[in-house]
Amino acid sequence: MNIYAAPLQSYTTVFQRMAHQQIFGGVDKYFTPFFEDNKKGGYAPRLLPEIDSELNQGIPVIPQVLTKEAAFLLQFAQNCKELNYKEINLNLGCPHPMETRRGMGSGLLATPNVLRDMLLAFFEAQTGLELSVKMRLALNDTMLWPEVVEVLNQFPIKEVIVHPRTAKQFYKGVPRWDEFEALAKTIRHPLIGNGDINNMDDMETLKTRFPAIETWMVGRGYLANPWLPLQLKGDTDVKVGDMKQLRAYFEYYYALVNEHVTDKNIIRNLLHNFWFYPCENIEKGRKWRRALDKKTSLSKYESMVNELLQRDWVEKFGTVNDPDAFDPADYNLEV
Ligand SMILES: Cc1cc2nc3c(=O)[nH]c(=O)nc-3n(C[C@H](O)[C@H](O)[C@H](O)COP(=O)(O)O)c2cc1C
Repeated sequence: MNIYAAPLQSYTTVFQRMAHQQIFGGVDKYFTPFFEDNKKGGYAPRLLPEIDSELNQGIPVIPQVLTKEAAFLLQFAQNCKELNYKEINLNLGCPHPMETRRGMGSGLLATPNVLRDMLLAFFEAQTGLELSVKMRLALNDTMLWPEVVEVLNQFPIKEVIVHPRTAKQFYKGVPRWDEFEALAKTIRHPLIGNGDINNMDDMETLKTRFPAIETWMVGRGYLANPWLPLQLKGDTDVKVGDMKQLRAYFEYYYALVNEHVTDKNIIRNLLHNFWFYPCENIEKGRKWRRALDKKTSLSKYESMVNELLQRDWVEKFGTVNDPDAFDPADYNLEV
């Protein structure tokens, strides 16, 4: 079985990937958060380290792009090729109205002709790069995936990752595995499932239901429990909840951040976002997270983190029905 690490804008960063691979591992591909056209013909500078080939050396990274324009897709492909990447991933899932209103992310699910034209231009250009897709089912309750799959089936797509929620669901409610099952019957490409795989039980349920699926993607679950990819692969040596290992993960990450980032506000955001998900699995972690407000001086971080690492690992992320969890309003989408 393969395990892919999902992209979470502002939470999965090059530094987090480097530290995760070094200290834990178990991930076969890490996807970057999406790159989009900044209308000046470039990308947001904060995202550039995400595809920096030196930083990412030795890590299986797939750069992701969000666009509906063939020209931008081709430019992104060209840039990634120059940096020695072999595959890029197209985002057909982002649920944020700012993107969907402009016909991108899940918005592109509603215009299969625009998608077809863009894919046609991409494959005709013979960039030498492989293209995979990450998609949702629809914008709202009217399923859009059947037409989209029909288009995808016409092209030599490498693989298709499906997060079976609608854009309207955001990250809440339950993934619609019935729709995923129907989709699996019509798609011709290797299919990867993604959504709410937070522990072994979740994985067992899905593996039993979909024995033919060889690859699964985890997002919030592996940020909250960085041992998860190894656990899911059946590694019996993993020491889930070993706070010494968690400390090593943080220290590796913090050293990288200090080496590569100078802006204090960005450093603070990076630290904040690093702890966001693990805190869900640490005793009274949410309270600690609230105390770590955006203005906390960097000099106080170390002692606060030391204090956090004395606490117990309680592993409850995704196991309790928690109305507080995953509110997108909590997510600081800008680093
Ligand atoms: C804060 C946040 C940011 C995200 N950013 C991206 C992104 O840039 N690209 C993408 O394809 N998906 C993005 N996602 C969706 C995740 O990749 C994943 O599909 C989703 O969280 C479901 O998987 P999970 O339940 O394992 O987390 C984001 C999700 C969250 C919560």
